[in-house]
This record gives sequence, structure tokens and C-alpha cells, in this order.
Amino acid sequence: MKLLVTGGVGFIGSNFIRHIRQEHPDWEITNLDKLTYAGNLENLKDIQDQPGYHFVKGDIADRKLVDKLLSQGFDVIVNFAAESHVDRSILDASPFIETNVKGTQVLLEGAKRHGIQRFIQVSTDEVYGSIDSGRFTEESPLSPNSPYSASKTAADLLCRAYFKTHHVPAIVTRCTNNFGPYQFPEKLIPLAVTNALEDKPVPVYGDGLNIRDWIFVTDHCRALDAVIQKGKLGEIYNIGSGNEKTNLELIRKLLEQLDKPQSLIQFVTDRPAHDRRYALNCARIATELGWKPAYSFEKALSATVDWYLKNESWWRSIKSGEYSRYYKKMYLKR
Ligand code: NAD
Ligand code: TYD
Repeated sequence: MKLLVTGGVGFIGSNFIRHIRQEHPDWEITNLDKLTYAGNLENLKDIQDQPGYHFVKGDIADRKLVDKLLSQGFDVIVNFAAESHVDRSILDASPFIETNVKGTQVLLEGAKRHGIQRFIQVSTDEVYGSIDSGRFTEESPLSPNSPYSASKTAADLLCRAYFKTHHVPAIVTRCTNNFGPYQFPEKLIPLAVTNALEDKPVPVYGDGLNIRDWIFVTDHCRALDAVIQKGKLGEIYNIGSGNEKTNLELIRKLLEQLDKPQSLIQFVTDRPAHDRRYALNCARIATELGWKPAYSFEKALSATVDWYLKNESWWRSIKSGEYSRYYKKMYLKR
């Protein structure tokens, strides 16, 4: 099996590549990544020189490059490449349209021309918008509220259109909030853990009662592995773990685990159009593909906190770079 993984240097992509190397050492992986602020080659240092793994620096929206690469012959494309942070999409939506929308279209076009057997679009529960009670199924209407989720929705719909019109064998997966090792510290869990370790305030948006369903990244990777092997072409699969927590509950737990005072919690101005609650019905992937999460929330959270404790130089070098300018822009005004 020859896989083209895009955005494989980022948080979920690097965990996915590590998972595939372990579970399917005979699969060949080419990783196409632009190395944006979120792409840190340190994430794959242990893998970079292994046989069967190749890295290409480049942009998924670069049609010529994608065409040249795909002419090498691949069976599967797994598209992780994206601008992924809601708050950044509020500051400037342009790169979200360029990568998430145009980039996905360029990959779909390439998949069409080069006879790819499977195109996995790694999408998000955020395309459904917010739900106060109950759970979204794959048939729920799409109702994105941020420029990020709107750009991901556009990409999902392009997958649908290329499947219907050109028979590109696309499958869309929509996962809930991931956490685990190598997550960029602009996202809630690594931001809270690393700020607390530095004895800095942990910003809580609004009243802190927004709810997310948290899934350990390895469980998401296992689900994608099942979709590659057994997923039905043209299908959409929700992926979630049912670990619903308010942001406040989660941050309190993290501070407790780190033995840091709850007084580090700092309520700040809410995010505009902040989705109140995400929740998915994941019956389809369970019944059709036999996938269910393997990690308990408590164990996965402890393992994640441990990872950040043991990998201080990883997050400290990120926090002192481009991120420090973003952080000032994002939080000093709030
Ligand atoms: P991330 O921001 O950590 O990583 C994104 C990666 O994509 C980076 O390595 C970056 O360099 C690369 N990239 C960005 N633009 C590119 C381009 N034009 N061409 C090539 N590479 C490019 O993101 P993540 O959290 O690992 O998310 C990966 C995917 O999963 C995204 O598509 C995201 O929408 C989706 N997703 C994320 C979550 C989550 O909780 N993090 C949940 C559901 C779905
Ligand atoms: P985030 O990790 O940005 O993921 P998403 O917005 O894609 O769900 O945020 C998770 C939740 O935490 C979301 O409700 C916003 C909130 N949040 C804070 O309260 N403080 C923060 O500093 C961040 C980054 C997020």
C-alpha cells in the first residue's frame, strides 16, 4: 500500500504516521507538508530516516507539485493538511480558504487524474455547528459558524461533488476534539497545561460552560486506519468518544493533576460565535467498521499531561517563536 499523507507533520498527522508505521510497517508513506507555523519536523524526528517514509515540503494548493507527486503512483490519499485553529480564522480567514478549500480541490483533481483508490478527507464535527441537546448524525444539516468550520464544510462538499460527478473515491470523516502528544499549544489542553506549568493564567472564554467531546488522538488514528481498510466509498463517518466536558471542568481537572492553584483560571472575553456544544452520534462507524474508542478519558489525559511534562523543550521552543506574537495579539486585548 502506498499512502500520500498531507499535513502529516502536524498534531494528528504525525500521530497517524507513527500509528501506521507500527501497525502496517510494510505500507509506504509519503508526507506532503508545507511546514506552516503548526508543522514542526521535531514531531517526526524518530521516523524521518526510516525506510518506507519520505518527506516532501510543499503546498497542497500547488497544482503542479501535486500532479508531479501523484504521477509516482499512490493507492490512498489521507488529507490532514489544513489551517486548523478557529481563533486564527477569526483574525484572518484567507489562509483557511487557500489551504482548506482550494488545497482540497487540487488534491481531489489530482486523485481524479491519477486514479487514486481511496481519498480520505479528515474533517471535523464543527461542520454541523452547535447542538444544545442530542447528537448530530452524518445526515444532520451542515451549519458552520466560524470561518474555519465554513472552510472545512466547503471541503467536505467538494468531496461529495467529486464523488458524485467524477467518481473520485472520497470518504469524509468528522471527528470531535482531539488531544494527546504533539498538539500545538494554541489549542485548549496544551495551552492550559503549558501555561499552568509556567504559572501563567489559563484563559477561559466566556462562562467556560461550552462543551466539547474529547477523544485521544490514537483512537482517532485507529478509526482512520479502519476507514482506509474498510470504509465505504462516498460515505461520511462521525468519530467521537462521548467524553463530554465543559471547558471549566476540564481545566479544573488539569490544574488538579498538575498540582497548580485553581486561581490560575482567568475568565476572558468570549470568542465570537462560540459554539456551545458539539456532540456526535457515532453508531455508523461502530456498526459498519467495528471501531470504538480504546482509551479511557482519565488515562489518556494523564498520559497527555505526562508527555508535556517530559517534553518541555518541545513546547518551550514553540512558545518562544512565532507563537509568542500570536499569543500577545490574541490574549492581551481580551
Ligand atoms: P495542525 O494545525 O496541528 O497541523 C496541520 C498541518 O498541516 C501542519 O503540519 C501544517 O504545516 C500542514 N499544512 C497547513 N497548510 C498546508 C498546505 N497548504 N499544504 C500542506 N501542508 C499544510 O492540525 P491538526 O490538529 O493535526 O488537524 C489535522 C486535520 O484534522 C485538519 O484537517 C483538521 O481540520 C482536522 N481535525 C482536527 C481536530 C482537532 O481536534 N485537532 C478535530 C477534528 C478534525
Ligand atoms: P480549541 O482547542 O480552540 O478547539 P475548538 O474551538 O476547535 O473546539 O478550544 C476548545 C474549547 O476551549 C473551545 O470551547 C474554546 C475554549 N478555549 C478557551 O476557553 N480558552 C482558550 O485559551 C482556548 C484556546 C480555547
